[in-house]
Amino acid sequence: MSLDLAAPTQNAPGVATDGAWLECIACGEQFSPFAAIRYTCDTCDGLLEVRYADPPSFADFGAGEAPDRGVWRYRSGLPFDEGVSLPEGGTPLHHVPQIEEAVGIETLRIKHEGMNPTGSFKDRGMTVGVGVADELGVDRLACASTGNTSAALAAYGGRAGIQTLVLLPQGKVAAGKIAQASLHGARILEVDGNFDTCLDIVQDLAARGEVYLLNSLNPFRLEGQKTIGFEVLEEFHADHGTYPDRICLPVGNAGNTAALYKGFRELVQSGSLDPSDVPKLTGVQADGAAPMAEAVAEGRDEIRRWETVETRATAIRIGNPVNAPKALPGIRNTGGTAIAVSDSEITAAQRHLASEGVGVEPASAASLAGLKKLRRAGDIDDDEQVVCLTTGHLLKDTEAAYKTGGDPEPVPDDTDTILDHISSWSRFGPWCLLTPEKVGFCYFPSVSASIAVFECDSLRLLSRR
Ligand SMILES: Cc1ncc(COP(=O)(O)O)c(C=O)c1O
Ligand SMILES: [Zn+2]
Repeated sequence: MSLDLAAPTQNAPGVATDGAWLECIACGEQFSPFAAIRYTCDTCDGLLEVRYADPPSFADFGAGEAPDRGVWRYRSGLPFDEGVSLPEGGTPLHHVPQIEEAVGIETLRIKHEGMNPTGSFKDRGMTVGVGVADELGVDRLACASTGNTSAALAAYGGRAGIQTLVLLPQGKVAAGKIAQASLHGARILEVDGNFDTCLDIVQDLAARGEVYLLNSLNPFRLEGQKTIGFEVLEEFHADHGTYPDRICLPVGNAGNTAALYKGFRELVQSGSLDPSDVPKLTGVQADGAAPMAEAVAEGRDEIRRWETVETRATAIRIGNPVNAPKALPGIRNTGGTAIAVSDSEITAAQRHLASEGVGVEPASAASLAGLKKLRRAGDIDDDEQVVCLTTGHLLKDTEAAYKTGGDPEPVPDDTDTILDHISSWSRFGPWCLLTPEKVGFCYFPSVSASIAVFECDSLRLLSRR
């Protein structure tokens, strides 16, 4: 099977350019990588993957003129040496000792992809994808987006001087992301439908030759994104002398899950990584948009498209993950899993990460929420070493951040009153009580001994006294 973890390397076929070609993961048909624009297989419409006759090894990374950090450090494993770069990658792998202790596992690190140029991991895909578009000489780029893809595409399209069109589900995209797409100069269409409808339409536009598609269906996007996995393995190994047992990540269209698995397969193929050292890919979705988790729970190889999706984590509000045929084998072959978490679990994880200085948007916190849930269920041992990916920055969705955090307290412009106001600041608390109706009463000794009343499903503050 072409997606097996230990699939053998192949000789470059006649259609290859510099040892790279496109291959259909369903029927195996091979295509030239750059001769024509195609996103799926001409014969069976299956997903395409970029394949290499000489898969990358750790020894190749950063060699020669390659930069020390970032996506292009890994150019030996990419289809060309230089893309449209801002630059991207080289994101922090945070230590979070307090969260690590609370979760109760040996090692927890947080790979904060929100620290990319436009604030999400999508930049890694765009540096390669827009680079291909530039080479192909296309005159209009497009994507459907829950927000972050549009922000990244607008920035990279602007950088390359190519027109950019983005289709967003109306009313379901965080304002920060729309602001980015707008200021970077994209033309923004708000569609009366969800993300999956937007993707259907943008695929139609691409099929009619009107736009160059830069969703993660485009196999070159995933090439850039697989470098997250390379970075995690290199840095984790440098710090701990081992590779992480598990990587937890949020899942929407499942592009990242597919990309990480592809990178690991290539390292196994090149002999750099033992199959037993490949981290267990653990995808996390929101309860209201969980077709991957459903397929894994039911042991199915295909997902069922969810027509109705809802979650506060709007970035992963997706009911038809198009990369599932690549991602499900990744989850299965690494011994991982996929689960769903509630919006309140996501909110709690977002607050927990923020308490240790890591500011992420709601979807990103799903990775930690999933880890906690698996740990509570006893599915993760206390000697595990885990990396959680946080995919987007807190400032992407300030409304969500503001609702999750505390309210500012109005005070008069008088130092004595302010001193009096903060005098009850205590290092204890808050104390919380949860009623069966899922209403929480929290006592904050730190905030003038105030009592807050929460609706726990949404963690919406109902009142504070
Ligand atoms: C912040 C964030 N996290 C996770 C995802 C999901 O990633 P994927 O579609 O690769 O599964 C997205 C996709 O838009 C995102 O913006
Ligand atoms: Zn095919």
